[in-house]
Amino acid sequence: MTINRRTVMAAGAAGVAAAAVGTAPAFASDGAEPRGERPMKEPFGTLPDGTRVHRWTVAAGGTRLRVLSYGGIVQALETPDRRGRYANVSLGFDNLEDYVAGSPYFGAIIGRYGNRIARGAFTLDGRTYRLPLNDDPNSLHGGDKGFDKRVWDVEPYARGRDTGLTLRHVSADGEMGYPGTLRVRVDYVLTLRGDFRIDYEAVTDRPTIVNLTNHTYFNLAGEGGGSILDHTLRIAASRYTPVDSTLIPTGELAAVAHTPFDFRHGKPIGRDIREAHPQVVFGRGYDHNFVLDKGLTDAPQHAVTITEPVHGRVMEIATTEPGVQLYSGNFLDATLAGSSGKVYRQGDGFCLETQHFPDSPHQPSFPSTVLRPGRTYRSTTVHSFATL
Ligand code: GLA
Repeated sequence: MTINRRTVMAAGAAGVAAAAVGTAPAFASDGAEPRGERPMKEPFGTLPDGTRVHRWTVAAGGTRLRVLSYGGIVQALETPDRRGRYANVSLGFDNLEDYVAGSPYFGAIIGRYGNRIARGAFTLDGRTYRLPLNDDPNSLHGGDKGFDKRVWDVEPYARGRDTGLTLRHVSADGEMGYPGTLRVRVDYVLTLRGDFRIDYEAVTDRPTIVNLTNHTYFNLAGEGGGSILDHTLRIAASRYTPVDSTLIPTGELAAVAHTPFDFRHGKPIGRDIREAHPQVVFGRGYDHNFVLDKGLTDAPQHAVTITEPVHGRVMEIATTEPGVQLYSGNFLDATLAGSSGKVYRQGDGFCLETQHFPDSPHQPSFPSTVLRPGRTYRSTTVHSFATL
């Protein structure tokens, strides 16, 4: 099995010229490898309160990324297949109204706290804070107006040689119940070889908790391409965090061996998804945090490899985070039509949300999610694309 890193990217380049305000198309039409063009910005609609939303387009190394200022949403991510044909591999909508009307976090930045906090309350330094119970009886993804529904300040990324976008948001003290003014910076970076890297940074003026992630739903056959259950997934995790019926971790770090959660050697996502294992029943499929064997690291280390068999796209994920939430699109129920006009059914996309573990504030043995003044929260996740 040979993995071609970017050997095919030039071929499909001409097909994806962007209709955007500003500079040259994101992909050069002469077949040359796109690298480092300046990001382009175009209007993408207006929120009910009159705020204008923009869509930014960035391309490098054969990957093209489209990002909304609303929610920092990855609205499209285009990569070539083994024959050089490009497709958008991320689920989402082609218009702002659908995102506002009700998106299950398609492509969005998640904060302040990715995943669930039990009963929507936590205690820090002796004080108890109450959060919205937007996933009854728990708080999910930062509350009912989390970072996924904020309009971010976006500008071209200006560190190093890579291209990309810098998104900033200042979350007010008390916003969604969380203490401290939190200044957040998220860099969406495309490297010269087409890797998609996300760097998160946050600082606070009062002790608080932070757990940021991105909620892109992928389908490596292309958005609207049907089920992802045939994608082969490998996760370098010997343990996972089992949950109760409301998807709150019990605190146990359970072995994946001899369970449907054993992805250590790679298997189709769907192979064991119909096992009557109590955890699969609670999750309606996979909706679980995997404890990465590498642990919390200063530099991103390999965590996941996922391969789509028909078109041959491969995505690898490296992260600094100690965990990753595998979500197999269990709540997609054919009520939403995505950007290609196709309806999304259960299992039509998967998420791999790199993170600290869910409900960490209630689990002293989990890696801490507390951020104190004077410290900087940092997290990096890299998605690399290849074909085989
Ligand atoms: C996360 C959660 C899931 C679900 C999705 C969005 O992945 O763990 O339970 O809420 O977000 O629908």
